[in-house]
This record gives sequence, structure tokens and C-alpha cells, in this order.
Amino acid sequence: MAPKKACLITFGCQMNEYDSGRLADLLTAAGWTMTDSRDTADFIFFNTCSIREKAAQRLLNHVEQVRSLKKKKPGLIIGVGGCVAEQEGEKLLTDAPWLDLVVGPQHLPTIPDLLEKLTAKTETGRAATGSGRRPAWSRENLAELGRDDGSRTEAGGLIGFVTIMQGCNNYCTYCVVPYLRGPELSRGAGDIIDEVKRLIDNGVKDLTLLGQNVNSYGLGQSGEPTFPELLEKVAATGIERLRFTTSHPKDFPPELVRLFGSLGPLCEGLHLPVQSGSDKVLKDMRRVYTRDSYLRLVDDLRTQCPGLSLTTDIIVGFPGETEKDFEDTVSLLDTVGYDAMFSFKYSDRPQTRSAAFENKVPEEEKGRRLTYLQTRQKDITLAKNAAHVGQVLEVLVERESDRYENQLTGRARNFKLIHFDGSPELIGRTVPVRVEEAWGASLRGVRAEK
Ligand code: 5AD
Ligand code: SF4
Repeated sequence: MAPKKACLITFGCQMNEYDSGRLADLLTAAGWTMTDSRDTADFIFFNTCSIREKAAQRLLNHVEQVRSLKKKKPGLIIGVGGCVAEQEGEKLLTDAPWLDLVVGPQHLPTIPDLLEKLTAKTETGRAATGSGRRPAWSRENLAELGRDDGSRTEAGGLIGFVTIMQGCNNYCTYCVVPYLRGPELSRGAGDIIDEVKRLIDNGVKDLTLLGQNVNSYGLGQSGEPTFPELLEKVAATGIERLRFTTSHPKDFPPELVRLFGSLGPLCEGLHLPVQSGSDKVLKDMRRVYTRDSYLRLVDDLRTQCPGLSLTTDIIVGFPGETEKDFEDTVSLLDTVGYDAMFSFKYSDRPQTRSAAFENKVPEEEKGRRLTYLQTRQKDITLAKNAAHVGQVLEVLVERESDRYENQLTGRARNFKLIHFDGSPELIGRTVPVRVEEAWGASLRGVRAEK
């Protein structure tokens, strides 16, 4: 019998990308092959994010679209995973009766078994696991996370991701993550280091440590190192490049700032979500820092590491955000000069405190603010990229360019994408490239002498 084909469709954050990578590995080990085609798949799985309302709605549209495929292929299994599954649980099976499987993020490893059971049954079995109030990864679950379960790779195995902690205790008023992913729980440092070593042996050169709130790593778990100590341990494994995401600006001790520019593998790029430039909005969001303390942190980081590239997340139209508050956000973007920004219109999420706040900003106004902000940031990003022209950057070569013949594509240490002429044997190597041209989303250069 030909191997069954699975099509995994991922929406949302790094965590979901990571979970999908894990699922692909688990399914491959169970004899499945992966496909990008929904039409030929025997199993279609939507791995979803519900951090913003738009993502959750998008999921339902997608699920509705594949419904018709079931008529052509009665054995087709359609599943939903990730945070939407955790949040909606069995309600999804009731609302969408053509769904076969709803699996919360902590139950991902059970999918191959569930699929076997579903395909073995002649009648259509249906399954839902992982709904309810449990944290996404229970302690037993963490213990179960075997050596092969806690990581994923990209770019032909050159770029690796290792989850070091899950969950969040911060309860920002707009955010659904603490309800869906549960309280913070860190993985043992020994486990993490073993996994990093395994990834290095398999060819990973650029490693990102993942967690909803990595700076809180180890806090409250006796015997584990602090986050800066963990970074030093990971750096000592010999990894070429090291990054982490996501960081909360309120938990950025001087020991962590000091590692930028001094801990060799730690790259000159940092995602530091600010959310708003207005003190009033930051207070209502319960972010704990102020505009000034955030700007001081940025100054300290840049003093320590002058070439640091910074990216951020912004929410526009938080309940009660006035035009003046919004202007404070615009001026913060001008002051910091981010290399890139991810921006979102505020949306009410279930269970969050802000869902009950008054003074909601009209949709139209949110749209206007978002467009304005994105246009402004586009110019800033371009200027930031243009500042690299003439510089020589160390580029880890990932692949041949999808667009141009004889061109290679790689990333600089600050994670910027760069294209340059070269032959494929350079893939996997780190080479110096002189930047000649800058665009909005990437750079172009030529190979430079060492
Ligand atoms: N509405 C809009 N954006 C949100 N984010 C999180 N929750 C919401 C919400 N309710 C954004 C934040 C966060 C990013 C991952 O998603 O900017 O940093
Ligand atoms: Fe959500 Fe705030 Fe936790 Fe980030 S720090 S995951 S925004 S609650």
C-alpha cells in the first residue's frame, strides 16, 4: 500500500511552526509522507493560533473550504490543533461536524496513534483531546518529552529551534496565552544542552531558544540556571549562532544586557515587543514597564552592542487608545528605529481582562492607525537596511535563490536576508558578503575577501 499523505497547514507563531515540525517528524516516523497538496492528502491538519481574533476566524474559513474534499475522498481525515483547539475543544466538533480530530498542543504526540485508530475504524471515529483548563504542557508531559521531541529545524537543517520553556505568568490584559498555554514551566538545562549538542551534530549552525517568555527561564524552579546562565551554557556547546525569542522588556536584567556583544555566538538581533509607546496604554495593558524604562533598556543594549538590530510588536487601537496615545507610539518608532515591526489591530480575546474594557476603538479607526504605522515603519526599515550598504556581513548560506539563477540566499547575524552570486557548494558555510543594495525585505551583495 502506498504511504498515506499528510498535509500540515500552520498559522501563527514560532511555537506553532515548531509544533508542526515536531508533528511532521512524528508522522514520518509512523510511515506517513508529507505533502503540500490538500487535494491529494489523506490527512489535513490545521495547526492554529488564536492569539488574535483574525487568526481564529481564518481557521474556520479554511476548515470550511476543505470540507468539500471529503465528498471526493470519504476516508479523508481533517484535524485541528494548536491554541484554537485548546480553546474551543469539543465545541469545534459540534460546530464543524465534518472535523475528525481536535487536539490541543500538549497532545500532539498522540496524533499518529489517533490516526491509526481513525483509519482502522470503518465507521467514522471522532476524537477530541486537550480541551479544558489544563496547562498546555503538564509536568509529566515535559518529562515525557524525549530527546527527539523538543526541537525542529529549517533551511535544510541549518537553522534549529529548541523550546526551553512554555506558558506565561504575565497576564497582559489583552493576551490569551496564559489561559491557553498555562503557567510558566521550564525545561531542565541538562535536557536542553543535550538537545543542542544533538542538533549541532546534525549540522545546525543557527539556533533559537524558544518560549513565550524566555527571560523568565528557570525562575521558581530550584536547581535550574537563570536565563543568562543558560545562554552561557548553550554558547559553550560550540554553537555558531545563538538567538532567543520572545523576551518581555520588564525582565531584562543587566546580566542579560551584558551578554550582547560579549557572548560570541549571541547574535546582534533581538525581538523586544513594546506593544505601545503610551504610558497610559502600557499601564492598561499591564505591561509593567514605562516608555522611559523601555527606551533606557534600548539605550543600554545599544551601548553594549552598537550594531544591534531590533524588532518589535505593536498593538493599535487598544481600548481607550486616544489619538495622542497613538502619536506616542508613532514617535516611539521614530525614536527607537526598529529594523522591522509586526503590528496588529487590537481584538478582544476570550477570558482576557481587556475584552471587558470600555471605550473600544472603532474598527475603521484601528485600520487607519495600522496603515499609518506600517507606512511609517516601511521607511524606517528601508533606511535601516540602506545603512548596511558598504558593510561586510557574515552570511550563513542557506540555499540557492528561488528567484535568480546562480544566486544564493543566506542570513546575516542580525537575521537579515541577503542574496549574492555564488555556487551551491557554499551552502552551509558562513562567508563574508559586501552589501551593495538594500530593499524593504532583503539585501543584495557580493562575496567579499576574508
Ligand atoms: N489583539 C491584537 N494583538 C494581540 N497580540 C496578542 N494579543 C492580541 C490581541 N488581543 C499581539 C501582541 C503580541 C503578538 C504575538 O500578538 O503584539 O506580541
Ligand atoms: Fe501574552 Fe503578555 Fe505573556 Fe506575552 S508576556 S505571552 S503578551 S501575557
